[in-house]
Amino acid sequence: MLAGYLRSYTTALKDKPSRNRPFVKTYIDAFAGTGYREGRHVAPGDGGSSRLLLPDLAQQEPQDLLDGSARIALKTQPPFDNYLFIERSEARCEDLETLRGEFPELTSAIRIRRGEANAEIQDLCKGDWRSRRAVLFLDPYGMQVEWETIAAVAGTKAIDTWILFPLGIGVNRLLTRSGDIPESWRRCLDGLFGTPDWFDEFYRVERTSTLFGHEEETIKRASKDTIGRYFVSRLRSVFPAVSERPLVLSNSSNCPLYLLCFAASNERGAPIALRIANHLLSKRME
Ligand SMILES: C[S@@+](CC[C@H](N)C(=O)[O-])C[C@H]1O[C@@H](n2cnc3c(N)ncnc32)[C@H](O)[C@@H]1O
Repeated sequence: MLAGYLRSYTTALKDKPSRNRPFVKTYIDAFAGTGYREGRHVAPGDGGSSRLLLPDLAQQEPQDLLDGSARIALKTQPPFDNYLFIERSEARCEDLETLRGEFPELTSAIRIRRGEANAEIQDLCKGDWRSRRAVLFLDPYGMQVEWETIAAVAGTKAIDTWILFPLGIGVNRLLTRSGDIPESWRRCLDGLFGTPDWFDEFYRVERTSTLFGHEEETIKRASKDTIGRYFVSRLRSVFPAVSERPLVLSNSSNCPLYLLCFAASNERGAPIALRIANHLLSKRME
């Protein structure tokens, strides 16, 4: 899906002028990995012993299915003008350097930054984006993407974003049945949604009168659907256009793990960006 979007994007923007010059087009991968796709594990301390989340991805597959996002982006035709790969791990940055060597014609267009994704992206968004356009891919393992980052991206009015939202792997696990949520988990959810209002969306407090006074019971009303709809509504609060039906990525037991969401940030470009993204998303849902 990423490959499909990137191809349509660079094709659509090929000759689009910005003050008589074509836009400078950048692909930004904030959690770039190595260039090859790996099996995902739930880390110990993430609520279980280490286990493979998407075992179907670990099976022998044709080579092109094993390409990671960085490699997919570098294969895009027509190409982007620039590629920015952000990665926290030193070893993975070295793998990305090797990947750069495989694309000699793009060597000078590729930048690899070792750093923390949120800090790097927020910094990048402070620049002048009037003659630039970008596609950003946010592919964290878990709940690393901060709302401030998403708001900063929307604020550029220039960066279209694909984001893997950690529905089953993160959020739903922190929403306890009782509504008794440890302070550190609440902060984590506040940081992800950019507001504490999620509590009222996901829980209902029922008050009943008894012989001895009033009793309160907190009932969880959040389902994976409502959590997804709420995140889409949060995206809509900052982006001019958002795909209403993100793609649900499930494991082999049909348990939803992530939502693949799309948001376009430039008002003029949004209708076509949204049309392409929705077309790709609906094809995968058939
Ligand atoms: C799910 S993997 C990315 C996979 C990649 N998109 C692909 O398709 O191959 C997440 C990557 O983000 C890196 N990472 C995790 N937290 C990070 C952070 N806060 N800032 C930057 N990179 C981070 C990890 O080292 C890991 O390589």
